[in-house]
Amino acid sequence: MNAASAPVLTIDGPSGSGKGTISRLVAGRLGWHYLDSGALYRAVAVAAGWAVLDLSDHAALVRCTQATEVAFRDTPGGEPRVLVNGVDATDELRTETAGAAASAIAAIPEVRAALTARQRAFSRPPGLVADGRDMGTVIFPEATFKVFLTASAEERAHRRYKQLKDKGVSVTIDGLLQEIVARDARDANRAVAPLRPAPDAVLIDTTGLAVEAVVARVLELMPASRP
Ligand code: C5P
Repeated sequence: MNAASAPVLTIDGPSGSGKGTISRLVAGRLGWHYLDSGALYRAVAVAAGWAVLDLSDHAALVRCTQATEVAFRDTPGGEPRVLVNGVDATDELRTETAGAAASAIAAIPEVRAALTARQRAFSRPPGLVADGRDMGTVIFPEATFKVFLTASAEERAHRRYKQLKDKGVSVTIDGLLQEIVARDARDANRAVAPLRPAPDAVLIDTTGLAVEAVVARVLELMPASRP
C-alpha cells in the first residue's frame, strides 16, 4: 500500500468538541498514525512569537512557517510531546495565548498553503486519523471516512475549564465561553478553509456524551474501512 492509497479518517470540529482526545484514542484503537493539525498552527504561532514577528507581516510569517520544524514524540499512554525547532514546547502550545495566535495566523491563506504538503505527508500505511478544522474539506477531500464533532459552546467551555483547573490554571467559565465563541466565529467566518463540515461528513454531537461513547460511535460508523 502506498501513502496515497492509505485510508484516512478525518475528524474536524470546533475547539473543545473533543476532537483531540477522540482522534488520539481512535488512532490508537485502529493502530493508525495521528495528525494533530492544530499543533502545527500553534507551533508556527509560538515560533513567530519567539522570533518576535509582527503577525501582520505575512511574508515573514510564511518564511517562519516554512522554517519551523515540528516533531511529535509519543509518550506511553499520554499526549505526545511536541518539539518546535528541537525545543519541547508542549505546555506553551496548549495555552489560550498560543491558541488565539494560532487562530489569527490560520486565517492567512499563504500560511495555510505553506502547511498543506506537510499535513498530507502524514498519510501513510496502515492509515491516518487527521484532526483539525479542514481535514475533510481541504487537506484530505478524498478521505475514506469523515466525521464532524460538535458540542454546545457551554459544554466546551466547561470541559476546557475542568482541564485548566486540573492543571492549576485559574480562569473563569465566562471568560472561556467568550474566547470559544470568538474563536468559533473567527474560524467559521474566515475566507480561506472556514470551519464547516464536509458535505459527506457524519455529524456527531458530543454534548453529554462520555469520551468512550464517542470513540465507540466513530468506530462503529466506519466498519467498512476498518483494517
Ligand atoms: O485544534 P487547535 O485548537 O489546536 O487549533 C488551534 C487553531 O488553529 C484553531 O483555532 C484554528 O484557527 C487553527 N486550525 C486551523 N486548521 C486546522 C487546525 C487548526 O485553522 N486544520
